[in-house]
Amino acid sequence: MLRNEVFINALLRKPVSYTPVWFMRQAGRYLPEYRKIRAKAGSFMNLVTNPYYACEITLQPLERYPLDAAILFSDILTVPHAMGLGLNFIEGKGPEFSFPLNTEISISKLQVPNIEELNYVFDAVKLVIKELDGKVPLIGFSGSPWTLACYMVEGKSNTDYKTIKTMLYSRPDLLNRILEINTESVINYLNAQIDAGVQAIMLFDSWGGILSDDAFKRFSLIYNQKIFNSIKQRHDGKKIPIIHFTKGGSIWIKDIADSGCDAISVDWTLNLNSARKIVNDSVALQGNMDPMVLFGDYDSIFKEARRIIDSFGMVGDSSAHIFNLGHGINKDTPFELVLDLVNEIHDYSRKYHV
Ligand code: CP3
Repeated sequence: MLRNEVFINALLRKPVSYTPVWFMRQAGRYLPEYRKIRAKAGSFMNLVTNPYYACEITLQPLERYPLDAAILFSDILTVPHAMGLGLNFIEGKGPEFSFPLNTEISISKLQVPNIEELNYVFDAVKLVIKELDGKVPLIGFSGSPWTLACYMVEGKSNTDYKTIKTMLYSRPDLLNRILEINTESVINYLNAQIDAGVQAIMLFDSWGGILSDDAFKRFSLIYNQKIFNSIKQRHDGKKIPIIHFTKGGSIWIKDIADSGCDAISVDWTLNLNSARKIVNDSVALQGNMDPMVLFGDYDSIFKEARRIIDSFGMVGDSSAHIFNLGHGINKDTPFELVLDLVNEIHDYSRKYHV
């Protein structure tokens, strides 16, 4: 069915002829065609809840660039929205919940949502799969229980996470209740995306990196591990690879590699060759260019891309690299440069593949 299996094969550490590439937030505001459709729809939520818009936006970056994977256009906060928290995206401020989990009563009332509340996501997956017609695989995703909880408790994006950290240290029972409900919800959500046709999964633990070593293991990783052990491993006879991403999580890559994921997405703080040694090539590695590199000139961008490919080194039977950014592409990124970068990654990396 798939005409380009380079990304899936790399995730499963099977031999490929070049390093596959896609970009976190590749469908988004840096593209003029996204901004046009966003203006027409009036709001971000109007885009996300409309499968036709979501499908069109998912495909936009693939029309410009020979990327090796598509990622569904949606958001991690659709799950708490389905739990009744009332998601809004405030212009220039980011996401906000009308009903954050700021009382013991609201936490005791929290429930795993009826998965049908998220049918707009699964309908979008089905449309994208049909439109892609096997061109490249489609990545489905979810926020991790911890990262979702950060937004659900704080009610919006935050810098110090005082409310949720206070809960973590003084009322861990309340936090664990939220995390357990989030875990079950994420399992249902990812399974439904797999049933709808996604061919790989990424778990965004974007705020795991704000935790202490002990708290990361007890309030983030343990729940992610439960998800990896519980979601469907295969669909239509094919293995569904799972990518784990913790921004700022480089120090935990050995623990993450042992959690049951197939690949780890790393930010820019790590050297890929050192990372390979730490995980002993037991998982594939994704990353790890700083998104700000894309604001430089051609020479500096190409130099950094080659350095990253060189730092991973030779790709053998049990090792694999998926080129990506260490976090989402910035909204002001000059989009013209991206085409040459994708071609360069494909061409330059061939020498490392047998
Ligand atoms: O191309 C893709 O990667 C697919 C789409 C996608 C979006 N959000 C679209 C989006 C994905 C995978 C996400 C995940 C997401 N959403 C994460 C995890 C990844 C990460 O970046 O760490 C998080 C933490 C969120 C929550 C979120 N959504 C925030 C904090 C914001 C506001 C900040 C910002 O970047 O604008 C959003 C909004 C959002 N999600 C936009 C897009 C394209 C911008 C909305 C707009 O058009 O104004």
